[in-house]
Amino acid sequence: MSEARNTLRFIDGEVSRELSGFDPTLTILDWLRLGERRMGTKEGCAEGDCGACTVVVGRLVGRRVEYRAINACIAPLASLDGRRLITVEHVKAGGNLHPVQQAMVERHGSQCGFCTPGIVMSLFALWLNESEANEERIEDALAGNLCRCTGYVPIIAAAREMFERGRAAKEAWTARSTDIAERLALLQDERRLEIVKGSRRFVAPASLDDFAKFYARHPDATILAGATDVGLWITKEMRLLDTVLHPGRITALEAVVEEEHAFVFGAMTSLADAAKPLGHMHPHLAELFRRFGGEQIRNAGTLGGNVANGSPIGDLPPALIALGATVTLRREDRRRELPLEKFFIAYRRQDRHPGEFVESVRVPKLGATSLFHASKVSKRFDEDISAVCAAFRLTLDANGHVAEARLTYGGMAATPKRAPIAEGSLVGKAWNELSAEEAALALERDFEPIDDWRASARYRMRCAQNLLQRFAVESCEAETQTRVAGPLARHHVRSAGAEASFSGGL
Ligand SMILES: Cc1cc2nc3c(=O)[nH]c(=O)nc-3n(C[C@H](O)[C@H](O)[C@H](O)COP(=O)(O)OP(=O)(O)OC[C@H]3O[C@@H](n4cnc5c(N)ncnc54)[C@H](O)[C@@H]3O)c2cc1C
Ligand code: FES
Ligand code: FES
Repeated sequence: MSEARNTLRFIDGEVSRELSGFDPTLTILDWLRLGERRMGTKEGCAEGDCGACTVVVGRLVGRRVEYRAINACIAPLASLDGRRLITVEHVKAGGNLHPVQQAMVERHGSQCGFCTPGIVMSLFALWLNESEANEERIEDALAGNLCRCTGYVPIIAAAREMFERGRAAKEAWTARSTDIAERLALLQDERRLEIVKGSRRFVAPASLDDFAKFYARHPDATILAGATDVGLWITKEMRLLDTVLHPGRITALEAVVEEEHAFVFGAMTSLADAAKPLGHMHPHLAELFRRFGGEQIRNAGTLGGNVANGSPIGDLPPALIALGATVTLRREDRRRELPLEKFFIAYRRQDRHPGEFVESVRVPKLGATSLFHASKVSKRFDEDISAVCAAFRLTLDANGHVAEARLTYGGMAATPKRAPIAEGSLVGKAWNELSAEEAALALERDFEPIDDWRASARYRMRCAQNLLQRFAVESCEAETQTRVAGPLARHHVRSAGAEASFSGGL
């Protein structure tokens, strides 16, 4: 491998930047505010929750630039290598407010103004990527932006208007994009990026082989993928990470391969990108992704990070385990594949050897005789962590009897976990509300959930039981409404021969 590069290279608005010698875990937000004294981007929570720090990052995908909103407060500056950063200072053009900003002014979308730059940037990303958006889509794009004084009605009104106002401005942005794509292409190289300060460093290999080699030799390095968990170790826990290893430049790790019976996701597939094929597979999965953080978190966070993090309340593992997913682990050139449920050994402990990383996750498609259900129960509808997350997959035989049951829960044990006793009680029986009730009772022998501030043990158990019964009602009585209407419109879903209906959350 050729010599490492010690200079971070990116485009800041329109300006090419080269930086070195900075703190390896400096965030984009701290660089903007403390280094550049560019105060437009605000700091509210410093943990990815409020959206005040939203910026837009452009990256080369093929020959075009793809732009996404992310939270600058938890994203390391060094992760911008080969990318374009757009902040609120960049969107105004030729002395004129951007159509998003103009609409916010005219619709009175700002009072104290603290949230406003972040809201402008989230709406700017929406404006750039889509040609129109209904109210549900606008709410979704703003789910990661908190405004505590204006209220969302005028902001949503501004969002509706920005598309109408912005046609000429959009043509100008699109025209500049070709030039930006060419400039970004010149920044892509095969050299490893190493930002070093004292004994600490940020290492971003350009190839998967180099990443694997480096990690095998430095198993104590902290892998930082989308930084939506690790970023908080830096900003909230004030951890000083010695060696940070970032796979963000390795496009091979972002590949999504569709096979006849499965999807294989590279570990660096963003949650936003994983949402497309999985959401298409079943609407409950689309709903699960929609309620995963806000859009900024789904743009930065990765599927591999959610699995490797091993949280008992991570939202994807229950659904992936129910679907029968397997994980491929790699150390240097050696790979092993194991069922995802076997990967989680104990609280925050996974079956991962030193120097071994998650390379990909294989997710089987739903068969024609399968029924599926996923539910997330949290205190808030948007941008909240689960108290209980449940996912079920049943395979029925020709007589409608359960041939295989995979009932998986998050929030009920120290790891995401299947419910073997409840599953056993279902196999061989007709799938109906009675068999679901028996299985729900058996859950009391499968789990001893904990009490914490998120939910009491009793509440968790009741939720787990009710969700299983809801699955039975939804799959056996299509017309019964089982969910309190949320922002989602009511859907009727034909899934694997059974019709289920759902709307919003609990
Ligand atoms: C505001 C906010 C809202 C959130 N909402 C949700 C939510 O609704 N549901 C939910 O489940 N989570 C949520 N999270 C948590 C987080 O977004 C997810 O866990 C996300 O999937 C982590 O992915 P990442 O790429 O950001 O991981 P990182 O933060 O980069 O890494 C997470 C962990 O995985 C390790 N790691 C990452 N990639 C690999 C790899 N390829 N191989 C081995 N180890 C690896 C890291 O070393 C670290 O230990 C939220 C976080 C925030 C800040
Ligand atoms: S400051 Fe709140 S999300 Fe970044
Ligand atoms: S305008 Fe004050 S927080 Fe939104």
